[in-house]
Amino acid sequence: MRKLFCSVLCVFVSIAVIACGNVRKNDTLEDMESDGQTGNDAVDGMMTDAEDTGDANEETEAIQGGEGDMADIGIFNLETRTVRLNSGYEMPVYGIGTYSLTGEVCVASVSAALERGVRLIDTAYMYHNEERVGEAVRNSGIPREEIFVITKLYPSQFSNAEAAIDEALNKLDIQYIDMMLLHHPGTGDVDAYLAMEQAVADGKIRSIGLSNWYVEELEEFLPQINITPALVQNEIHPYYQENDVIPYIQDLGTVVQGWYPLGGRGHTAELLGDEVISEIADSHGKSSAQVILRWNLQKGVVVIPGSGNPDHIQENTELFDFELTEDEMQRMGALDRDEKHDWY
Ligand SMILES: NC(=O)c1ccc[n+]([C@@H]2O[C@H](COP(=O)([O-])OP(=O)(O)OC[C@H]3O[C@@H](n4cnc5c(N)ncnc54)[C@H](OP(=O)(O)O)[C@@H]3O)[C@@H](O)[C@H]2O)c1
Repeated sequence: MRKLFCSVLCVFVSIAVIACGNVRKNDTLEDMESDGQTGNDAVDGMMTDAEDTGDANEETEAIQGGEGDMADIGIFNLETRTVRLNSGYEMPVYGIGTYSLTGEVCVASVSAALERGVRLIDTAYMYHNEERVGEAVRNSGIPREEIFVITKLYPSQFSNAEAAIDEALNKLDIQYIDMMLLHHPGTGDVDAYLAMEQAVADGKIRSIGLSNWYVEELEEFLPQINITPALVQNEIHPYYQENDVIPYIQDLGTVVQGWYPLGGRGHTAELLGDEVISEIADSHGKSSAQVILRWNLQKGVVVIPGSGNPDHIQENTELFDFELTEDEMQRMGALDRDEKHDWY
């Protein structure tokens, strides 16, 4: 009798626990939809640490949690400087991009970034530097789980994505890939994405996403896949703001990351010299680059500025000891020219 009572009680408690878990999960997703947690809404802990010196070296705790509390998916925590992805893992909200950094320059730049507390690195098959990024990560002495590496499959690899994923794993040689993206839409992209989904199941990749997918492309693509992209990486800077695309992506519970945050090589001088941006920068005692990067963070957009210059790399970490006002955010918003700086 006692055994029977215990069994019934166990079943009852299990059902109650599962029900609570589901309510919590559903609440989270519904809340995100109804709250429209995008842009500024998606930024938490804004300047609660006003004394923050921007010393990124303080940020040495493990940044990835796996099965964590999913209630905070997509919300930037500017105290921990991380955002939780729909995969459950945490990703830093600022990092270094490695496009056009190759050979020893790449190793030196990534190493300089890691030494300065940067824990997010963006690479790609097409950048021809995955080996160098892996080398810098392995040589850093920083525990692997504290570093978040993004790489990408190029459309030329889509027809044999499984082999391409293994190639990236071999080149990087860092045990697993934190995030893999499809670099561009292209023939075979759905199958390539499904191969990445399988690699997630196999423990080779932790999170997956897309790059250069806009609203139309996403609407066509999403019904054909099983795992909602954890991240979409698109061109975003003050002259090309994507103000229609960003909320659409964020409403999916997907994090947005901007490439060419400083306009991209050949365009940085104009952007950094912009009168409005320079004026805002002067009023905060900051550089134009820092104002642009901070503007992104306050919009809930992850930044990965590229740099081979240690001083710039350091400057690009000092984003957490000032805050743009609502008025300044609006003035930055008014700079949009719908001016793309690359073809994709
Ligand atoms: N998914 C895609 O299709 C795609 C496309 C393009 C880029 N990306 C990614 O996005 C990353 C960022 O783009 P990007 O590197 O091409 O362009 P970017 O970050 O907009 O600009 C890089 C340029 O800005 C300069 N710079 C960096 N920090 C600076 C600072 N604090 N002050 C003044 N100048 C500064 C760099 O020069 P120094 O080296 O002298 O610092 C470099 O010339 C790439 O590295 C790549 O990882 C992705």
